[in-house]
Amino acid sequence: MKQRLSLMYLSFILIISSRESSSSIPSNSFIGIPPQDEDYFKREIIKCKNGSKKFTKAQLNDDFCDCPDGTDEPGTSACPLGKFYCKNIGHAPSFLYSSRVNDGICDCCDGSDEYDGKVKCPYTCHEAGKVAMESLKIKIKVYQEGLFYEE
Ligand SMILES: *[C@@H]1O[C@H](CO)[C@@H](O)[C@H](O)[C@H]1NC(C)=O
Repeated sequence: MKQRLSLMYLSFILIISSRESSSSIPSNSFIGIPPQDEDYFKREIIKCKNGSKKFTKAQLNDDFCDCPDGTDEPGTSACPLGKFYCKNIGHAPSFLYSSRVNDGICDCCDGSDEYDGKVKCPYTCHEAGKVAMESLKIKIKVYQEGLFYEE
């Protein structure tokens, strides 16, 4: 059972990694937020991460800086200390300063930091992730052969 689960997990990674992502990101208030932090931002009243202030759901990514530490504007350039999360599907996720969001320069390999339409960022994560994916494929193959011989 344990083996089957990890095989499923590996295949899941492969599917995720090989999916081509579009560079036009729909305007959603959760842009720039890492998946593991989404629950934190789903409350009606949200605290700035360092506890200095509170803000409402409507103030999240509204392009106005409410938290001195940038908690409320991960996806816009409004707060100088904000951090933007790039999903970079096909490669590794990364963070950049939110001040680089919509600044006309493509920073994330998935192009998600430039969503206002002024520049069109090519999707380059696939190239960046290719090497990692090849080695993963080999691992899966070895793993599957291992299962086969066990039977
Ligand atoms: C929160 O962070 C900001 C920016 O670094 C700082 O100015 C402020 O004093 C901090 N507040 C607390 C309560 O730590």
